[in-house]
Amino acid sequence: MNKPTFYITTPIYYPSGNMTIGHTYTTVAADTMTRFKKMCGYDTYFLTGTDEHGQKIERKAAEAGVTPIQYVDKIVAETKDLWKLMNIEYDDFIRTTQDRHIRIVQKIFKQFYDQGDIYKAEYEGMYCTPCESFWTPTQLVEKNGEKVCPDCGRPCQPMKEESYFFRMSKYQDWMIRYIEEHPDFIQPASRANEMLNNFLRPGLQDLCVSRTSVKWGIPVDFDPKHTVYVWIDALSNYITALGYQSEDDSLFKKYWPADVHLVGKEIVRFHTIYWPIMLHALGLPLPKQVFGHGWLLFGADRMSKSKGNVVYPGPIVARYGVDALRYYLMREMPFGSDGNYTNESFLTRINADLANDLGNLVSRTVAMIEKYFGGEVPAPGAYEEADRHIIELFEALPAQVEKHMNELQFSLALGEIWKFVGELNRYIDITQPWVLGKSEEGLPRLKTVLYVLAEGVRGIAVQIYPVMPTTPERIYEQLGVSDDKLKTWDSVKKFGALPAGLTVKKGQALFPRVDVQKELEALSGGKPQEAPAKPAEKPAEKSAPAKSEDGLVTVDEFFKTKLIAAKIVACEKVEGSDKLLKSTLDIGGGETRTVLSGIAKYYTPEDMQGKTVILVKNLPPRKMKGIFSEGMLLCADDKNGNVRLLTVDGGAFAPGSEVG
Ligand code: MSP
Repeated sequence: MNKPTFYITTPIYYPSGNMTIGHTYTTVAADTMTRFKKMCGYDTYFLTGTDEHGQKIERKAAEAGVTPIQYVDKIVAETKDLWKLMNIEYDDFIRTTQDRHIRIVQKIFKQFYDQGDIYKAEYEGMYCTPCESFWTPTQLVEKNGEKVCPDCGRPCQPMKEESYFFRMSKYQDWMIRYIEEHPDFIQPASRANEMLNNFLRPGLQDLCVSRTSVKWGIPVDFDPKHTVYVWIDALSNYITALGYQSEDDSLFKKYWPADVHLVGKEIVRFHTIYWPIMLHALGLPLPKQVFGHGWLLFGADRMSKSKGNVVYPGPIVARYGVDALRYYLMREMPFGSDGNYTNESFLTRINADLANDLGNLVSRTVAMIEKYFGGEVPAPGAYEEADRHIIELFEALPAQVEKHMNELQFSLALGEIWKFVGELNRYIDITQPWVLGKSEEGLPRLKTVLYVLAEGVRGIAVQIYPVMPTTPERIYEQLGVSDDKLKTWDSVKKFGALPAGLTVKKGQALFPRVDVQKELEALSGGKPQEAPAKPAEKPAEKSAPAKSEDGLVTVDEFFKTKLIAAKIVACEKVEGSDKLLKSTLDIGGGETRTVLSGIAKYYTPEDMQGKTVILVKNLPPRKMKGIFSEGMLLCADDKNGNVRLLTVDGGAFAPGSEVG
């Protein structure tokens, strides 16, 4: 039987400088997903590569005194080394300077022109001569009363240039309908609304697709003073790499449409509006999903390569190993949201999750099997309540992990696995094997406990593999597992595949504990910590609507949200719902409010009563289960099943007091 296919891509990266931890983030996510799908029986295809044209590269090469191709060749070689170091197993690495790509881009451009999708016109805008960049009026920044280039801070002049334009406007209504009718196409869903409300519904502008001022690019073959500009060149990589319109297009036939394009949030627009329109114009099916993930930031600082505040993965991997970094990248922030990279949070994860939780579990399990049973995994006896609890969790885990992984929620998947790690550690505390080992009568029970632990550890090793490809083998070695059948996804759906009688062998600590203070100093070289780059600034796009996509709000915007301290004076369950609690809040001045909150899993009505909480006061009322909720209580959610209300420090505080 043919396996189902799964085609996943990363953006193709600008090789204008070395790849940072930010580029690594996307690439590790794609690799993780590929490994997971492979384990689930898919025939996977993972494409990455480099986007090598454009004036920035031209300029960088000139500064380095080499030709553009010499410049990018070196960075591409270093990028491939980095991906190897990160254990990235891609199927193909496309370079936009390759002949296989150039030929097809020219064909596609010509087809668009012949079909009337592309037309020639004159563009007028503000131009920065030193940067050779067009900027829209809203992209310019103000300096000493003058509008200047946002890149170099120098004055811009009005300028005209002949360009080809893609008639995006023609497809606007089709695109709106498509997004509306395919709710899974753009993920997370909030990004779909952003596209509809910010770009499509206000009116889609035609897109400039050629330049006469840029030479380092693919020539328009029927009008060679023009160079194909950025997006037709870059986006087509996803199909040219598969041999679209080439002599051998078997990969294209097999894998297109892509299952998912992973992209950073700043390029979601190009992938969910321009790319689908291009594909539609070519008569091709659209990718099934575009997932826009967040940025890895550093504090609130707006960072850029030009500030030189970049973190590279090489030194981190050399010090702590590739799996520690991959784990951190996939665990620390939900895929889709921004998050901060800090050396401190990284080191804390190493100590807490890897050394303590996982590392200790494995070493304790193996050490006890060695101590009590001469290293031989014992056969279990009758299971008791505590064992059955673990067995249930074991068997429930793969489905939970699968669900999160299929939604690209890596941090949630890892959260579930680590919850199980925690349960196994607790199981050791409860069953107290060291007490059982003291007497003959305890031995049968001890056999069961240690078997349950060993099998539990195997279950974990199997399921961390997509994120941490090298650690499972180290665990298998300690457990004495060599049979590949015990390493498959299917083998952990049912408890008990681990054969008794295997010989365990204590190895080195999986993740040695680190001295956080010492490591912080080592990582920052005694200097204050440096920041990794936010994604590279995009080249100016002639018709780009001005919209900040960096997720920052001004203080004024923030204070539009009215937060107040409110006291819960009564609380009850909402009939017909197992999630909702209905609270009556004293909000000061003799006024009360009714608020429904989905926290019945975490609090009883009795717990709620008397707490002074934070209420979002100026939300429109919302009807749930026939009751109007007049606001929202703020909670913290660690996405690990823990949700806690935000309360006022000290508890009692005058209801109605402003928060902020
Ligand atoms: N060449 C274009 C993409 C064309 S795709 C047809 C481009 N290249 S880029 O080098 O600037 O970066 C591309 C991707 O790198 C971003 O979309 C993002 O996925 C990733 N990131 C680079 N820095 C990042 C962070 N600091 N954080 C998260 N992702 C980041 O755009």
